[in-house]
Amino acid sequence: MSRTVYVNGTYLPEEEAKVSVFDRGFLFADGVYEVTSVLDGKLIDFHGHAQRLQRSLGELGMTSPVTMDELLDIHRELVTRNDLSEGMIYLQITRGAPADRDFVFPGPDTPPTLVLFTQAKGLIDSPAAEKGISVISIDDIRWGRRDIKTVQLLYPSMGKMMAKEAGADDAWMVAEGFVTEGTSNNAYIVKDGKIVTRHLGNEILHGITRAAVLKFASEAQMEVEERPFTIEEAKQADEAFVTSASTFVTAVVAIDGVSLGDGTPGPVARRLRDIYIEASRKAAI
Ligand code: PDD
Repeated sequence: MSRTVYVNGTYLPEEEAKVSVFDRGFLFADGVYEVTSVLDGKLIDFHGHAQRLQRSLGELGMTSPVTMDELLDIHRELVTRNDLSEGMIYLQITRGAPADRDFVFPGPDTPPTLVLFTQAKGLIDSPAAEKGISVISIDDIRWGRRDIKTVQLLYPSMGKMMAKEAGADDAWMVAEGFVTEGTSNNAYIVKDGKIVTRHLGNEILHGITRAAVLKFASEAQMEVEERPFTIEEAKQADEAFVTSASTFVTAVVAIDGVSLGDGTPGPVARRLRDIYIEASRKAAI
């Protein structure tokens, strides 16, 4: 069935949704995005995503064409119109479509482009959640501002393909000897009960799920250390996992072909997933 999508103030069938060939998102990857998950027809951590969106826009000198309250209404309207119970809402804002291709940013007479659409997907019950995923390590050759959630996703996309070709599910990226993050998630290891994940900085995306999971972990008296770790250290860990809006907390059971623990999701990852889902469901709006 055709989805109803949102483009620049209008709700319309996906077949009729159009963006200009001069759109800077299309020509220059000049845009930012957010992915917000939906459970029971409600939004998980909307305010966290809205806040990060504003930060991404600010870092690139862009502005949102709508207020964050209006954005919440649009998310809710799309959930209703598409009868979405479980899945994600994808949002993208680009620097708009000037009259021609030009490296120089357009002036204020070019409004930003705002697009949102829904993706129905089972997030709670998935083979990855049940069995865990395997990852390979690859060089992190992305640009230096990975804290901005831009739509420049070619390398993460290539990383997923490298993983697929190697018979794995995903890739962890490594810069200067240390793991930065997964292609579309934040990366963690667990050793002797302690959770280790890279500290925030320009090198990684400041995951909204990461912030929630670290808060829940501390509240549950779990020890957390925010510091860089190597792939060698990760291979010797008791457990590993990733977090993102679309995977919540998902165990990593093998790294570069080396099994962790008994090769099944470990107790810390399983517990954090349960806590995260329960708490997020309660707080969903
Ligand atoms: N990706 N790191 C990267 C590189 C990401 O692309 C993502 C999210 C995360 C996790 O952020 P959050 O917890 O806020 O979802 C970390 C989204 C889900 C995507 O591109 O589909």
